[in-house]
Amino acid sequence: MAILVTGGAGFIGSHTVVQLIQSGFDVVILDNFLNSDPEVLNQLHTITGKEIKSYNINLLDKEKVQEVFCENSIDAVIHFAGLKAVGESVAKPLHYYHNNITSTLILCEVMKDHGVKKIVFSSSATVYGAANKIPLTEDTPLGATNPYGWTKLMLEQIFKDLHTSDNEWSVALLRYFNPVGAHTSGLIGEKPGEIPNNLTPYITQVAAGKLDKLRVFGNDYDTKDGTGVRDYIHVEDLAIGHLRALDRVLTNTGVDTYNLGTGKGFSVMDIIQTFEKVTGVYIPYEVIERRPGDVAVSYADTTKAKQELRWVAEKGLEDMLRDAWKWEQKQGKCFVPHLVKRT
Ligand code: NAD
Ligand code: UD1
Repeated sequence: MAILVTGGAGFIGSHTVVQLIQSGFDVVILDNFLNSDPEVLNQLHTITGKEIKSYNINLLDKEKVQEVFCENSIDAVIHFAGLKAVGESVAKPLHYYHNNITSTLILCEVMKDHGVKKIVFSSSATVYGAANKIPLTEDTPLGATNPYGWTKLMLEQIFKDLHTSDNEWSVALLRYFNPVGAHTSGLIGEKPGEIPNNLTPYITQVAAGKLDKLRVFGNDYDTKDGTGVRDYIHVEDLAIGHLRALDRVLTNTGVDTYNLGTGKGFSVMDIIQTFEKVTGVYIPYEVIERRPGDVAVSYADTTKAKQELRWVAEKGLEDMLRDAWKWEQKQGKCFVPHLVKRT
């Protein structure tokens, strides 16, 4: 069975490709390397021992996407390709709407032309907006606070409308919480832009001496230590979640939505302390004002994924941070200046 993985060279896509190959699927990757490195393809070869067919194509190029479907007998699609930086989406909304939404419309049109109606889509917990009833279930009212979030919300609606128009479509909308970590081999992981926006890549770069210190965005939230609480999930667990969702779309029709998280919340201070414990490298930090748009607490109710996908995340916070650090150390330019533990 052949699965087209759009964005398969990216952070979550590459880990999912490994799981797909190891489960016996044929994989075709489509990625234009807008936010990834073609070197990932070599690493995937090293990890899986398989030559993986891949196309350097922009999903906005409909003719080229058609060619991929003509040249391969695709059974289903896992659609990761998209831009994901919240701040950039506020600065460049048209770029985000075009890259994320137009490309998905093109993908669905081509799928329809080729009779392929099974898709797993990367949504995000960001669609819960500023919801304050925790834990977040799939029925929590939705909202968005930035163009990136709107692209996810709009695309979820587009998939629902598509199924209403033709009930042969089978769609899994996966709402990821906070994916972190890297493959246990240390060969693939997350490549953030110059200065990371997200907490764990920022911490690993501080630990590596690439950044001077962590800025903790507020310690006056209504949480156990005042810092923001999130549901961090190991990217390998997340990748396995895609396999379970794929099983479901291959055997069902309809549109199903699933939270993929651990169901546990950890604060920024928990992350700093656990990182120091598992690596022996301490993280200098200062507390600054809250980041605009941040919520105090976000973690998933994972009951639905457990019941319907028979999936639960198995790796813990220590695994996530150990693997993130292993990956960071392989990125070179690592000075590790802070070996003394905090007293
Ligand atoms: P990523 O940037 O590492 O991977 C996305 C991949 O898509 C990249 O390799 C990029 O080159 C490719 N791509 C982007 N636009 C493309 C286009 N027009 N044509 C072809 N390829 C294109 O991101 P990721 O962290 O792996 O995220 C994957 C998906 O999951 C994204 O849709 C993202 O919005 C969503 N998501 C990510 C997170 C997260 O924290 N990482 C959380 C929630 C949802
Ligand atoms: C971010 C995105 C969100 C996306 C999610 C998962 C923003 C505003 N939101 O959310 O759309 O779905 O990632 O990828 O970017 N923190 C610090 N210092 C830092 C970085 C983060 O204290 O330098 C804190 C934050 O305030 C938060 C926690 O760490 O409490 C996690 O932050 P982050 O990794 O950016 O994830 P989210 O805020 O959940």
